[in-house]
Amino acid sequence: PTSGTVRLAVIPGDGIGPEVTAEALKVLEVASPDGVKFEQTRYDLGAERYLATGEVLPDSVLAEVRDHDAILLGAVGGKPNDPNLPPGILERGLLLRLRFELDHYVNLRPSRIFPGSVSPLSDAVTGRGEVDFVVVREGTEGPYTGNGGALRVGTPHEVATEVSVNTAYGVERVVRDAFARAERRPRKKLTLVHKTNVLVNAGSVWWRLFEQVAAEHPDVTTDYMHIDAAMIHLTTDPQRFDVVVTDNLFGDIITDLAAAITGGIGLAASGNVNPDRTAPSMFEPVHGSAPDIAGQQKADPTAAILSASLLLDHLGHADAAKVIEDAVVADLAERDPATPRTTSQVGDAVAARVAG
Ligand code: NAI
Ligand code: MG
Repeated sequence: PTSGTVRLAVIPGDGIGPEVTAEALKVLEVASPDGVKFEQTRYDLGAERYLATGEVLPDSVLAEVRDHDAILLGAVGGKPNDPNLPPGILERGLLLRLRFELDHYVNLRPSRIFPGSVSPLSDAVTGRGEVDFVVVREGTEGPYTGNGGALRVGTPHEVATEVSVNTAYGVERVVRDAFARAERRPRKKLTLVHKTNVLVNAGSVWWRLFEQVAAEHPDVTTDYMHIDAAMIHLTTDPQRFDVVVTDNLFGDIITDLAAAITGGIGLAASGNVNPDRTAPSMFEPVHGSAPDIAGQQKADPTAAILSASLLLDHLGHADAAKVIEDAVVADLAERDPATPRTTSQVGDAVAARVAG
């Protein structure tokens, strides 16, 4: 674990990003493990900066960010269909660039129906056990590398390609990480999700490396599911999942569904993790900048707070991470939809529980 000073790069971003990040930092401050001090550097990146200066992620800023222990991100993105903000600018230029440059090859999405939450899928209703799984999504390859192009654009003869990149190196390292995570969990089960019957080339390398690494982990139960079947099982009996490993695109889809069935976008946290620790990992809520509710203190900061918990866990402070998670669970159990709270009231309540 880190001790002494943790250098934290904070990218609050746009819309509700700064609102939820403020609450996550509030909770992080009080959860600080003994002797650990957070030294924050704030970076103003996102739609606002781009619209004002034309800058997305200057190389000098990337170099500075790299020199931190971890990154906490709110959300970036402007108003829908702003003609001055072409689609892809922030996604590719900022979010994907950070993930690729800092080698965040594990995109981690814990998905849990918290005790006491009202859900048709909760154990209380189904009697089939808790829904508590984690998706390990490959973060640096697949169809998201920008390996494609277009010809004769706008004509009836337009050609567009978006080639999925799958390297043995890239697949093996994420599969290894997923097995290691499965091994640390009580159920020790790992499901590979792909579409090996149709995407036979990519499917083959995923399947072979999955089998190969499985042989080194006889204590982990393995399963395989096609992506389409996984959509059915995630909606009808998500209890069957423990750890899921999958490629970048399938993972993008699975994790949104996972968020939807486990309490919604206000609760979904994520980590963009570099398990080799050659660069800082980045933690962020799954949701975006929500321009429709920005500036109104209506956003639920829980996803950002849980992301801060993942950050602490990654830095080796599992106990402090658990204290935050438990505080969130307790807060959720006492929520009353009839009396909505502001963003900062939720942050205050969780921080107070963390402080004990
Ligand atoms: P969104 O997640 O921002 O909002 C979708 C819906 O969920 C909205 O109705 C919003 O009000 C609600 N919502 C989101 N977070 C919430 C919270 N914490 N509490 C309560 N309600 C919440 O997704 P949308 O509308 O598709 O995108 C808005 C902007 O965010 C776009 O510019 C998009 O590109 C960007 N975006 C950025 C992401 C990131 O920074 N990683 C991820 C997803 C979208
Ligand atoms: Mg997504």
